[in-house]
Amino acid sequence: MQKWAREKFQPCIPLGENHTRITECETNRQLSYEAACEGSVLLKNNNDFLPIGKGTAVAVFGKAQADYVKGGGGSGDVTVSYVKNIYEGLKNRADRITIFDRLSMFYKEYVDNELKNGAYSGDITEPPIPAELLEESKKLTDTAIIVINRFSQEGIDRKNDEADSYFNLRAGERELVETVTANFEHIVVLLNVGAMIDVSWFAYNDKIEAALMLWQGGMEGGFAAADIITGIVNPSGKLTDTCAARFSDYPSSEGFYESDDYVKYIEDIFVGYRYFETIPDKKECVVYPFGYGLSYTEFSISDAEVNQSGNKINISLVAANIGKTAGKEVIQVYLEAPEGNIAKPKKVLCAFEKTDMLEAGESQRIQLSFDITDFASYDDMGAIQKSAYILEKGIYNILIGSSVRDAAQPVYSFNLSENVIVEQLNEYCAPERLGKRLISDGTYIDVPDIRRSRKTFKREYGNWDYKKRSDVIMLLDVAEGKSDMDEFISQLTDDELIYLLEGHKNRGVANTCGMGDLEKYGIPPVMTADGPAGVRINAECGVNTTAFPVATLLACTWNIPLIERIGKAGALEAKENNLSIWLTPALNIHRSPLCGRNFEYFSEDPLVSGKMAAAMVRGIQSENIVAVPKHFACNNKETNRYESDSIISERAIREIYIKGFEICVRESKPWMIMTSYNLINGVRASENTELIEGILRDEWGYKGMITSDWENHAEHWKEIKAGNDIKMPYGQPEKVKEALNDGKITREELAECVNRLLNMIIKLQ
Ligand code: BGC
Repeated sequence: MQKWAREKFQPCIPLGENHTRITECETNRQLSYEAACEGSVLLKNNNDFLPIGKGTAVAVFGKAQADYVKGGGGSGDVTVSYVKNIYEGLKNRADRITIFDRLSMFYKEYVDNELKNGAYSGDITEPPIPAELLEESKKLTDTAIIVINRFSQEGIDRKNDEADSYFNLRAGERELVETVTANFEHIVVLLNVGAMIDVSWFAYNDKIEAALMLWQGGMEGGFAAADIITGIVNPSGKLTDTCAARFSDYPSSEGFYESDDYVKYIEDIFVGYRYFETIPDKKECVVYPFGYGLSYTEFSISDAEVNQSGNKINISLVAANIGKTAGKEVIQVYLEAPEGNIAKPKKVLCAFEKTDMLEAGESQRIQLSFDITDFASYDDMGAIQKSAYILEKGIYNILIGSSVRDAAQPVYSFNLSENVIVEQLNEYCAPERLGKRLISDGTYIDVPDIRRSRKTFKREYGNWDYKKRSDVIMLLDVAEGKSDMDEFISQLTDDELIYLLEGHKNRGVANTCGMGDLEKYGIPPVMTADGPAGVRINAECGVNTTAFPVATLLACTWNIPLIERIGKAGALEAKENNLSIWLTPALNIHRSPLCGRNFEYFSEDPLVSGKMAAAMVRGIQSENIVAVPKHFACNNKETNRYESDSIISERAIREIYIKGFEICVRESKPWMIMTSYNLINGVRASENTELIEGILRDEWGYKGMITSDWENHAEHWKEIKAGNDIKMPYGQPEKVKEALNDGKITREELAECVNRLLNMIIKLQ
């Protein structure tokens, strides 16, 4: 096919074998199912009650069995031809278990009716169990399944009060649980949710034998659930978030709804397990720790050999399946750094690896490695050396296990006799009015208010002065090496440069607009589409795509090659539909259970987030589709997201909230990054020169282009000045022109952004 033929002509050319379409094809749906199975986490399994024995009759309670939430809402939604719910999944296993149909039909009719009457899927009130159906269920079986679901979406955070409770069980659900626990001998709980919710009600209730965290498993989620319950699949997911007993246990809870205008991240770097494992007395708040997840088999880890070569730690060990069923294990390595002048989390995840499928009795040698300097502490207060990453002197322990708790005994230790300055950086994005920050003994230290003047950066420009030409250089000439980019850009007028720095209308099935599109110079229109759980095409186009499980579930697979395959599969669906830019992955940190977009994000841990995002980007870009890690940065709340100021220490920004982006940029070199709506310490992310030029481009060496988030509230010319290359889905051309005329921005600054845009387009096939 001719270069850019898809972008220019939007052809209907299928990508599958024998000219079949691959969009929502069987192979991709199967991949979605595989991921849903692999990222579900078995939280509880007393007496090995699961898998449910063959021939067991089961009564399934809860409206959620008929209202499966495949993923969240907003731009992260996916238009699909079907969603398999839990009832359908269990019925599909009629060879293994019997379902009390009349009970399930009651829930199905109830859900259908509620939806018809305008209720939102995932937010339907739990109905009381009809007495007669309860009695009949009891006659039929002593085994019950309770299904609970939750929905959330972009633009709205959830609440945790009686009227809208995301974390706690709601009144109807509490009644459901009480009734079922009072009437059945064996009870299994299924959670179809997009973020951490209360698990203490079943964890600490002996009457409930088993619980499975299904997350939101995409279009095949109900089938995956049933196959785990019936033992066709052995679960191997592990939590990538901490499950605490109460909402208030999460350190972000206190201030989450303090103001619509700002969020103060006073817990600092102590997010998730870094908080619960470090701060005195907080360990006991944890019901299921980070990294935790059960299996139908057991594993041992042995023969661990650790050797150190400079800063590099290499670990080799043997993981063995010592149980009776085939399964997979996740090996997790944590680093324990000495407490010193810079407050430290007790343990930090520094490497992980999932085993292959190991048959009972089989073992596998696993190699892991990491660089200790990647886990140095950033000294933003000048405790040792201001604005430097530092490894403090003292004893470092390496711990291996299958969860943060399980990793308790050091397998290797080393002593640093002196502090090591790993890297001297500059102060960027520092707060003006944080007030206080948490340290590892559980107390807060004051952070004085400081007015900051933000830095600007000297950039190297190309030779982009306007040169009128009698002929026209076409972009294809540049792509084919017949002409050079500087010459190409020099022929563009200021107005043409400005035109290229904003989004343009949709073509084909796109609904999030496109870029490029300047016919005279052969610049093709390149279309964007949302993600991350699949390629989102608006329902009215009539094109269904594969809904993969949400990112939180994908992270819980801990399976990097699997995530890469999903990236590739999604990219091919984008390509087949002539969409060149997939606005995926999203990797903000799970700071609070109530953030409406948690489902789109991977984890509370930056290493997991970064590794997953990097895998996704590699998969996507292997098909020459542009991946767009988003939302850079500190977008951890949806309320007033266009105007909310994330007030946060520089250390927490660097070590927690942008660390995943750093890993992703260094490992997989994305061609585009999306800035976030929010402000960071008073400066909008897309206008934030220190963030974009100082950190992303200078420190990390990022070479790709940068887009704004859609319809943000930032000023276009300030974004250009900061190096945020394009404003989507449309810009402010008049205002940019005015700023150019007033000398607030220069032609070079416009041209530099265009240069990055065109270099991205040139990469497309
Ligand atoms: C979201 C982005 C999304 C964009 C385009 C915004 O509201 O924050 O994640 O990619 O819309 O739909």
